[in-house]
Amino acid sequence: MIKTINNYLENKKIEYLFFVSDSVITVKLLLDINKRIGIHSDKTIILQIKNYPNNKYVFNEDSEVSNLYSTAGIKNFSFVNFDTNKPDDFKKELAEYINKAKNVFLSPSLKDFFDSLNIDKKPEYLSEYINYERLFSLLKQGAVKEIADNIGYLYQIRGKVVKGDGIGRKIKYPTANVEPSDKRKVILANGVYAVNVNIKGNWHKGMVNIGTKPTIGNNKITIEANIFDFNKNIYGDNISLNFIKRLRDEEQFDSLNSLKSQIEKDEKASINAINSVNKSLEFADGFCFIK
Ligand SMILES: Cc1cc2nc3c(=O)[nH]c(=O)nc-3n(C[C@H](O)[C@H](O)[C@H](O)COP(=O)(O)O)c2cc1C
Repeated sequence: MIKTINNYLENKKIEYLFFVSDSVITVKLLLDINKRIGIHSDKTIILQIKNYPNNKYVFNEDSEVSNLYSTAGIKNFSFVNFDTNKPDDFKKELAEYINKAKNVFLSPSLKDFFDSLNIDKKPEYLSEYINYERLFSLLKQGAVKEIADNIGYLYQIRGKVVKGDGIGRKIKYPTANVEPSDKRKVILANGVYAVNVNIKGNWHKGMVNIGTKPTIGNNKITIEANIFDFNKNIYGDNISLNFIKRLRDEEQFDSLNSLKSQIEKDEKASINAINSVNKSLEFADGFCFIK
């Protein structure tokens, strides 16, 4: 990491350095950064720390983070990988870079880490944004509306479409099994959700089941999307699921037929939810922002 920053710093006089935690990127945070940069974007660097302290979970994976910054028009952004093998050297080096900047802006959640760097500079704090623990508990409840209200866009899972068991086809609801690109991404509570799906830049409507599919006796948790009015082969493609509403818990049905009748109801409920929520969304660069 330090190399990237080094190259950058060699050529530029950094006046504004933002040191941002990898917890959650909210629209509020992006607006706050933009406001503080003002017209000085060429004298700015944004460092986003990663893998600190060995985070087991991520809320936004790397490609999402980069996309969110670029959507907000924020350039000069760089990830900083926390080096757990040599934490002291890493911290020393990082402190040197941060010291070179005129103004330092800090995520409140990085306060303790920043203090441990012993930098002789008082940072300004970025707007407090949602607490990671609170968000994590909302994810575990599947409370996607509350999450969107807090972050400013629909919670997203990106991943590759992999082969499933092919049973979906038999009940006329074929599904795309999505394998998250980052295994540490926090997965929502099991259940059925209405979603907007982005495939190669195009938006589609759909519904997703997250769970173990007890009706067919599967045990591994899978994320399966049925995409409306869509029958292309997308195995191997990367798609994103943007969660609008949680419709119900996953259930064990006594036959595939009963499951099918329930999925027909889910489809109607999804269409209603999507049509009503999409009016209040702005679709940009693969995200569904709340207007
Ligand atoms: C909208 C939707 C809701 C679903 N709900 C349930 C459910 O409540 N219980 C369950 O066992 N499986 C549920 N499933 C999963 C189906 O059992 C699964 O899609 C089907 O078996 C096909 O899996 P396959 O593509 O891996 O063959 C749901 C799937 C979808 C698309």
